[in-house]
Amino acid sequence: MLKIAVLISGGGSNLQSIIDSIKKDSLDCSIEIVIADRPNIYGLERAAQNNIKAEVVDRKQYGRELSEKIYSLVRDKVDLIVLAGFLSILNGDILKAFKNRIINIHPSLIPSFCGKGMYGIKVHESAIEYGVKFSGCTVHFVDDGTDTGAIICQKMVPVYADDTAETLQNRVLVEEHKALPEVIKLFSEGKIKKIGRKVIIE
Ligand code: GRF
Repeated sequence: MLKIAVLISGGGSNLQSIIDSIKKDSLDCSIEIVIADRPNIYGLERAAQNNIKAEVVDRKQYGRELSEKIYSLVRDKVDLIVLAGFLSILNGDILKAFKNRIINIHPSLIPSFCGKGMYGIKVHESAIEYGVKFSGCTVHFVDDGTDTGAIICQKMVPVYADDTAETLQNRVLVEEHKALPEVIKLFSEGKIKKIGRKVIIE
């Protein structure tokens, strides 16, 4: 059974989609630990409601040691690290030890509207501002950049003329909640093959 760690920074709706997929038996994996980079977020409540071990590694307390502390909590304990609404940037040994075993979900069609400072509602505000006709979400491998890893899965949504950032965000979230469990399932089945920047789903 695939063992995963889920890293969060907020409400945890993507964490919830993984929990729900496991409960529905459509995802054969075990969430060994939830790690939050800040306290008092609803995602921690979701972990508690489902008796999932959770740790707070406060970015304000750990600063540059954040990644090392998280690495100490997951090394030799999980097969895959899932960033689910996680806002801190991982670096150092954890990236080497978990090469091609860390995935992230971003609420746009990368390479649009991503990178440093582009997170949460800002992503959707930028898409609306730019006037794109489609947006969506991307699940990608995490490398040493910000939202630059090889793309595994993308799901697209239309953008309507009367959309607000919030209405677009809600439409994209529906697809996020499908995409992340789908990718974790494919990973658990060994069906994701990465060749350079290309990712082939077998
Ligand atoms: C989501 O849009 C996710 O794509 C982004 O953070 C937002 C909040 O995620 N990375 P969640 O509800 O905390 O899972």
